[in-house]
Amino acid sequence: MNSKKILITLVVVGLCCLTVVNSLKCFSCIDSKTCKKPSKVQCTYDSANSTRNYLDLYYTGVPNTTSIGFLCMSDLLKPAGSGDIMRKGCIFNNYQSCFYNVRPYFSQSYQRSCKQCNTDGCNPADRASGSLLAVTFTVMVTAFGKRVWP
Ligand SMILES: *[C@@H]1O[C@H](CO)[C@@H](O)[C@H](O)[C@H]1NC(C)=O
Ligand SMILES: *[C@@H]1O[C@H](CO)[C@@H](O)[C@H](O)[C@H]1NC(C)=O
Repeated sequence: MNSKKILITLVVVGLCCLTVVNSLKCFSCIDSKTCKKPSKVQCTYDSANSTRNYLDLYYTGVPNTTSIGFLCMSDLLKPAGSGDIMRKGCIFNNYQSCFYNVRPYFSQSYQRSCKQCNTDGCNPADRASGSLLAVTFTVMVTAFGKRVWP
């Protein structure tokens, strides 16, 4: 291959991979009812902004920043004495969904199960949400957030 061909190949491969990163699909739902059968959505600025607003409602220190890359997230917050708070969706890839502190209103007693991940549909409906969460005052955090664009 001459250098021109190599350059074109690199550009095509580059475009392909950018598209793959930008076209991430995540399961999306807003409460325990809809999260039993979440729909799969294409990540967009708006869907990530919506998840960002959710995080800001229940957690402190959630940033204002946005990004052109996305990740999937899944969050279940069970405050003592109130209903489950559940959310799945897209989030900007410069966020760490699982590492923000719960707002003081809930922070005395709660259980949390949270996940952030970077492949299509990696945040599916939980098979047995609830039974996994046996220990009060325990935060279970798994975060596989990869910073594609820091
Ligand atoms: C993101 O959500 C916030 C809160 O609802 C809203 O004020 C803001 O306009 C949204 N940003 C965009 C660009 O839609
Ligand atoms: C986020 O944006 C709002 C309004 O644009 C601003 O008042 C607030 O200070 C910002 N928060 C952070 C953490 O940057």
